[in-house]
Amino acid sequence: MTIVGAGVIGVSWARLFSEGGWEVRVSDPRPDLHELVERELAGLPVAASEDLAAAVSGADFVQEAGPERVEIKEEMFATLATHTRDDVVLASSSSSLLPSVIAKGNPAAGRIVIGHPFNPPELMPLVEVVPGPETTARTVDRAVEVYRDLGKLPIRLKKEIPGFVGNRLQKVFNDQATYLVQQGVIDVQDLDDLVRASLGLRWAVTGPFQSGTLGGGPAGMRHLVEHVGSQLTFETGSPDPARLDAVLTAVEDAYGTGEAAYERLVELRDVRTRAVLQPLGWPEARSADGPRQ
Ligand SMILES: NC(=O)c1ccc[n+]([C@@H]2O[C@H](COP(=O)([O-])OP(=O)(O)OC[C@H]3O[C@@H](n4cnc5c(N)ncnc54)[C@H](O)[C@@H]3O)[C@@H](O)[C@H]2O)c1
Repeated sequence: MTIVGAGVIGVSWARLFSEGGWEVRVSDPRPDLHELVERELAGLPVAASEDLAAAVSGADFVQEAGPERVEIKEEMFATLATHTRDDVVLASSSSSLLPSVIAKGNPAAGRIVIGHPFNPPELMPLVEVVPGPETTARTVDRAVEVYRDLGKLPIRLKKEIPGFVGNRLQKVFNDQATYLVQQGVIDVQDLDDLVRASLGLRWAVTGPFQSGTLGGGPAGMRHLVEHVGSQLTFETGSPDPARLDAVLTAVEDAYGTGEAAYERLVELRDVRTRAVLQPLGWPEARSADGPRQ
């Protein structure tokens, strides 16, 4: 299989697929590609190639994780369409671009699907599988099967919508977080702690609807909506884009920037994520079918 793009997401996908029994090729025009693969994916069956056409020829599955720019995706998928067999799924990790837009005019539109992970794909169970109007059922079924074999939880959306589901929810939530900081209600770190100590923990074990069912007691979510929900009539407001810079500066002050700060935060996040995944019973299973191309 081939990963297109060796950035934050592509490297994590490469680790997941290779540890899951796939022989992986990673393609990216970046000049440090070989060094990066040697450093980040040492000891795994991962080969590097700057040449996209060569990297995808013979692949059984393609996971694209290149830049989030439609003109670049269109160009990459045109190359993928030409240089892959007509039974090969071409999955894009895009966080927001509609599959119909990426696949527009592409002769392989039926094979193009969104397989949107949450960062980092090697740890987060979810992959949102989003078909465009031309995506075939076989493509969706195959993508779901591949992600499931990797121990992921693939969830297929019934139809495309900008931002899909995860990022639509995240956008509403993050906008409100920014608004509350801009309004001087709370600072950045307290907001993060508040979420970790309440909604984050709750949503790791129940979704919003299940949580609503519990919040209403034996009478269920209907009771919660009528009783508490009916009083939540305030306007939520929106962040002011002109004052976003001050919030970003506060985030940088809180967490730092640069390689060392990033590595420290990645390690902390990964240790904590692993610590909660296991007791929550997320599948460890990896495909034992042996290497595939
Ligand atoms: N970062 C996230 O949290 C996140 C989460 C889920 C999905 N995604 C999606 O994953 C994709 C990759 O995001 P990222 O954060 O890893 O970006 P990134 O900027 O870290 O990596 C993109 C990589 O693509 C490479 N690239 C540029 N042109 C290319 C080409 N023609 N062929 C192959 N590779 C090329 C770049 O050199 C770079 O290494 C995007 O579509 C993004 O929306 C990102």
